[in-house]
Amino acid sequence: MTFLFNSDARRGAIFAEAFAKELPDLPFVMDPAAVDPNAVRYLITWTVPENLDRYRNLEILFSLGAGVDQFRFDAVPATVKIVRMIEEGIVRMMQEYVTLGVLALHRNLPAYLAQQRAGEWRDITQFQAGSRRVGVLGLGQLGQAVLDRLKAFGFPLAGWSRSPRHIEGVACHHGEAGLEAMLAASDILICLLPLTEATRGFLNTGLFAKLPEGAALIHTGRGPQLDNEALVAALDSGQLSAAMIDVTDPEPLPAGHPFWSHPKIILTPHVASVTQPATAARAVIDNIRRHRAGLDPIGLVDRSRGY
Ligand code: NDP
Ligand code: OXD
Repeated sequence: MTFLFNSDARRGAIFAEAFAKELPDLPFVMDPAAVDPNAVRYLITWTVPENLDRYRNLEILFSLGAGVDQFRFDAVPATVKIVRMIEEGIVRMMQEYVTLGVLALHRNLPAYLAQQRAGEWRDITQFQAGSRRVGVLGLGQLGQAVLDRLKAFGFPLAGWSRSPRHIEGVACHHGEAGLEAMLAASDILICLLPLTEATRGFLNTGLFAKLPEGAALIHTGRGPQLDNEALVAALDSGQLSAAMIDVTDPEPLPAGHPFWSHPKIILTPHVASVTQPATAARAVIDNIRRHRAGLDPIGLVDRSRGY
């Protein structure tokens, strides 16, 4: 029975140390060539390796990331559990990033940066937090954590999910019927949806038109959820005032792409949140213990939903 780590050696060394301490009975291997494929019960990876079918006794395929859209589910035997990463490092970093974005957009930072470049000393009407409505698409691990952190600032908060949710201090909407109401009341919209067939191309012209004029967008979900041309058009027409974009399609963004130089876009290279090896190792170890005890791992993916 072996755990196979399929990623970089630096993070692997941190995982190896935690496994040696916490699960000494489970051999931990980083070199696929050095393992008997039949012994591999657990595999952690960012993408599904080409030769997955050689691990005939695989029980759990762990994603190194919170998202699992990079996995082709049909390449993973139905008997194998797919588990996404839920660990405190990812959560904390996403809270930081989205808070940074909300405050930057709330305080008109993109416009002030443009004014600085133009040598222009001019104040912009500043709304107070109590009248800046923030809406979050996706009320999962990250959406909820982000809302929790934003509560302290006094923004009116709303969120949207597939199934009904109740979150103290947050106006919760769900399903198709709930979407319009939330969009109409979101001055700053944050996308924290997983990429599925239902959310591909979701951030498009029609959706932007349902936001209040001059709304702003923070996109930390996945690049293919955003219609790039629709974003540029909405920014140029003033329907959107600014956007902070962490995920793009494609990644990396090619030279000359309009996002690089658009004055209303703040762009970061998919760094909102990064799996932290020490806390991630702990989460994976806990999940192996749960699995051994006959419990479902935390973060078990529902293949029919796609997340
Ligand atoms: P979760 O699975 O915990 O939550 C997903 C949320 O989205 C749930 O509330 C779910 O609804 C909702 N949702 C999914 N599909 C739909 C739909 N069709 N309509 C309405 N709501 C929907 O995911 P996490 O919060 O952990 O992560 C979200 C995403 O964030 C990841 O999938 C990944 O793409 C992205 N991410 C980005 C990072 C970055 O650095 N930029 C880092 C980490 C993650 P319900 O509650 O009903 O299930
Ligand atoms: C993730 C990511 O899904 O880094 O964890 O985007």
